[in-house]
Amino acid sequence: MRKTIIAGNWKMYKNIVEAIELSNGLKRELFKLDFAAVDVVICPPFTALSEVAEVLNESDIGLGAQDMYWQDEGAFTGEVSAPMLKEAGCGYVIIGHSERRQFFGETNETVNKKLKAALGHGLTPIVCVGENLKEREANKTFEVIEDHIKNSLLDISAEDLLKTVIAYEPVWAIGTGKTATGEQAQEVHKYIRDLLRKIYDDTVADSVRIQYGGSVKPENIAELIAKPDVDGALVGGASLKIDSFTQIVTKASEVKK
Ligand code: PGA
Repeated sequence: MRKTIIAGNWKMYKNIVEAIELSNGLKRELFKLDFAAVDVVICPPFTALSEVAEVLNESDIGLGAQDMYWQDEGAFTGEVSAPMLKEAGCGYVIIGHSERRQFFGETNETVNKKLKAALGHGLTPIVCVGENLKEREANKTFEVIEDHIKNSLLDISAEDLLKTVIAYEPVWAIGTGKTATGEQAQEVHKYIRDLLRKIYDDTVADSVRIQYGGSVKPENIAELIAKPDVDGALVGGASLKIDSFTQIVTKASEVKK
């Protein structure tokens, strides 16, 4: 049984005051629900992590960062390390988000280094993979996914992969309002799981959680999560409001597979 995981990626939104307000609101609303069947994680900007960690204290909501560097410390201006994230209260970290691949030169190689460092420090990585519109239209979706999966996960042991979450995020669906249909998501999730079956084994393939990301909203979460290989969602825009994120968690926890 794979436990559903819903994560909110706040991107570069919310100053400290707003982040405290949003996390407090989520804590209050989610407390009213029975969401024990779902792992819930929020990923605010670096500057708000410590304050949000304090808000989340004694709640079941996990805290994650949106990126990290693979060295523990050093002359790496502007970077933040895994031990720093742990100290700030993080249990999770998003790695290889398409916006980082697209705008900040992230490659499978840097994703792989970050992934190893995150796992080495006991952070749960959420590793993002996904094709862009040009690649999809050129029928290269599976090729891109295979490249992202094989190279981002290079030399990751089965034991470590079991501690990793994968997020399939078709770039054409991120922030565009265009969601993949349940069928489109399922097709790629199954492809990823079959790939893991080839690289690892049945146990790993059947245990690793694969989230879908890209314009997830209260209106489409039920359709997506009902698919057999979709184990959760990485939510951007709709995670910035108490009401929409709470509805997504509620609906995800109502879908029984
Ligand atoms: P979106 O973002 O839900 O706003 O499309 C998803 C993501 O980038 O993780």
